[in-house]
Amino acid sequence: MATLFLAIACLCCALLSCGIGAELEGSQSRSIAAAREQPYRTSYHFQSPRNWLNDPNGLMYYKGVYHLFYQYNPHSALFSNGIVWAHSVSYDLVNWVHLNHALEPSEPFDVKSCWSGSATILPGSRPVILYTGIDANYRQVQNLAIPKNESDPFLQEWVKFSQNPIIVPPIGIEPDNFRDPTTAWWGPDGKWRIIVGSWRDNIGMAILYQSDDFFHWSKSEHPLFTLSNTSMWECPDFFPVSTDSTNGMDTSTLNPSTKHVMKASFNSHDYYVLGTYNLELERFSPDDDLKGASPDLRLDYGKYYASKSFFDSAKNRRILFGWVNESDSTEDDIAKGWSGLQAFPREIWLDRSGKQLIQWPVEEIKTLRDKNIGVKSLGLDGGSTYEVSNITASQVDVEVAFELPKLEEAELMDPNWVDPQILCSEKNASVGGMYGPFGLLALATKDLREQTAIFFRVFRGHNRYIVLMCSDQSRSSLRNEIDKTIYGAFLDIDPQVEKISLRTLIDHSIIESFGGEGKVCITSRVYPVLAIDEAARVYTFNYGTLSVRIERLDAWSMRKARIGPGESLVSQCENLSFRGSEECPSCAASPSHCEESASAI
Ligand SMILES: *[C@@H]1O[C@H](CO)[C@@H](O)[C@H](O)[C@H]1NC(C)=O
Ligand SMILES: *[C@@H]1O[C@H](CO)[C@@H](O)[C@H](O)[C@H]1NC(C)=O
Ligand SMILES: *[C@@H]1O[C@H](CO)[C@@H](O)[C@H](O)[C@H]1NC(C)=O
Ligand SMILES: *[C@@H]1O[C@H](CO)[C@@H](O)[C@H](O)[C@H]1NC(C)=O
Ligand SMILES: *[C@@H]1O[C@H](CO)[C@@H](O)[C@H](O)[C@H]1NC(C)=O
Ligand SMILES: *[C@@H]1O[C@H](CO)[C@@H](O)[C@H](O)[C@H]1NC(C)=O
Repeated sequence: MATLFLAIACLCCALLSCGIGAELEGSQSRSIAAAREQPYRTSYHFQSPRNWLNDPNGLMYYKGVYHLFYQYNPHSALFSNGIVWAHSVSYDLVNWVHLNHALEPSEPFDVKSCWSGSATILPGSRPVILYTGIDANYRQVQNLAIPKNESDPFLQEWVKFSQNPIIVPPIGIEPDNFRDPTTAWWGPDGKWRIIVGSWRDNIGMAILYQSDDFFHWSKSEHPLFTLSNTSMWECPDFFPVSTDSTNGMDTSTLNPSTKHVMKASFNSHDYYVLGTYNLELERFSPDDDLKGASPDLRLDYGKYYASKSFFDSAKNRRILFGWVNESDSTEDDIAKGWSGLQAFPREIWLDRSGKQLIQWPVEEIKTLRDKNIGVKSLGLDGGSTYEVSNITASQVDVEVAFELPKLEEAELMDPNWVDPQILCSEKNASVGGMYGPFGLLALATKDLREQTAIFFRVFRGHNRYIVLMCSDQSRSSLRNEIDKTIYGAFLDIDPQVEKISLRTLIDHSIIESFGGEGKVCITSRVYPVLAIDEAARVYTFNYGTLSVRIERLDAWSMRKARIGPGESLVSQCENLSFRGSEECPSCAASPSHCEESASAI
């Protein structure tokens, strides 16, 4: 089916100069009608057309094209057996075209499902996929697939290796606790390495494998990392970050100016720890203890799971994708006909402190920015709100920075306040303090009956100030039967020298917030009943007793990204300047395919 869409897109592309405006207008009014029935569909976050979606898989940049594969259930809005690798491609990480499924259950080694895995680009620009197959006995085994045609930049067809599985659960590991192989890295000793997530005796672990040829893999004596008292380690990710630059690094890079990141998904969150990787000793030594509890670093302190990063060689950066689950009920998902989003892709690098990662929406998001509203130097007295008007508040990118003139009057930090999420619940947006709560009210109604508050509080600690960042969903919807957990984290900045900044991407039912220039990310899902589409508003607010000052606020109405079948490819063809190419990129990339398809129509 997707091939047909592609065919149509290529055909439209050929007809571009003849004008296809009328057709686009028609589809726009259809999409407005659809928006009313589906107020929670997003405008610039990646979604599948329907059904269940979860983990991002196999991310890569190949021959000018970004590839996103993802876990997808073609039969239902809920998770079940029969999961496939769906496949979408993009030139800019913003607009996406859905292609045919890349991997579907078919063989004894994956007949129940094709679960998560990763892509590695071998020397000579040869992509391979490693993925977990659920075999006929519900064992989790690791399989290999290669493109049918490496010249096709869309990598539309994949061939499963005839000798799969290449790795089976080792002795002592339950066959249902062995999954999600990483991108491989290559050592100076000529060996490839991967880790596979696992769990035994209440210990989560990253089991290390080595290979000379990518086909035959042997298990290292010791896991690369273990952590007691966690649930199963899913979707591990292991990659280098530069200690002296924000540039990304290829997964195999290992030099004195690298640190390594070990990330795993467990206990419903994506935890990570920074450390040193010694390849000769096959040892990863974390800088700090990982505990699987609240002081640990997390990629996101809200709803965000099963993330995966990849190195983008086109722009020398590392990019992170993550699955954002729903917060409504399974009945709601069946009624909507879909479930799950991908977070907006984030560039990821090491903070100057060397103590944590920074994440920021990839710069391409700016191509969606439309009308800008800017506010400079605005005082916000205690108890006040200020509406950011004249923007599409259900679909907006907001950046704001707050100044606190009299920090010494901040309230005292209680040393017992150790868990930021609990503190955000106890001191939620309805609880006035001295400095805070102040921040943004997203997807709010005019009477504020519905609102999601993303806010800060500042406390005076023993010898420093402590900044708390929260996302309070408790009043996000008049409906009760949804998960309204209040999220929170401590933001490691010094408000004496830095402004307290917040960037929030609001998109109908997802709110992604970046505090302190990307030091803390909190993603939430919300389902307003009234604050939808044109009825939605966005405010800044200050419910503390002390005044704060908005140094600068910028809000941009966001255009809709073209995510879908052919139509989105047409829009990418329209913007030829983007890649500086003279021809529609898709047709340029595979002209024979286009001709064939065009004549078939
Ligand atoms: C492989 O892909 C290239 C580029 O799309 C195409 O020109 C070629 O015909 C394809 N080869 C086969 C065997 O399909
Ligand atoms: C394991 O986790 C539980 C619940 O989080 C906690 O009560 C217990 O103390 C932990 N045990 C160890 C050994 O860390
Ligand atoms: C997804 O969200 C639903 C609703 O909040 C929750 O019940 C479920 O456990 C979540 N699933 C995962 C895998 O996090
Ligand atoms: C909003 O836009 C309207 C019409 O363009 C204009 O009259 C009004 O002054 C604007 N309001 C603000 C606060 O910018
Ligand atoms: C907000 O905080 C107050 C005071 O701690 C508490 O009574 C109330 O239950 C909280 N609301 C939510 C939704 O947690
Ligand atoms: C095309 O893409 C470039 C680069 O992102 C952007 O600056 C430009 O505004 C786009 N043009 C159109 C017509 O969308």
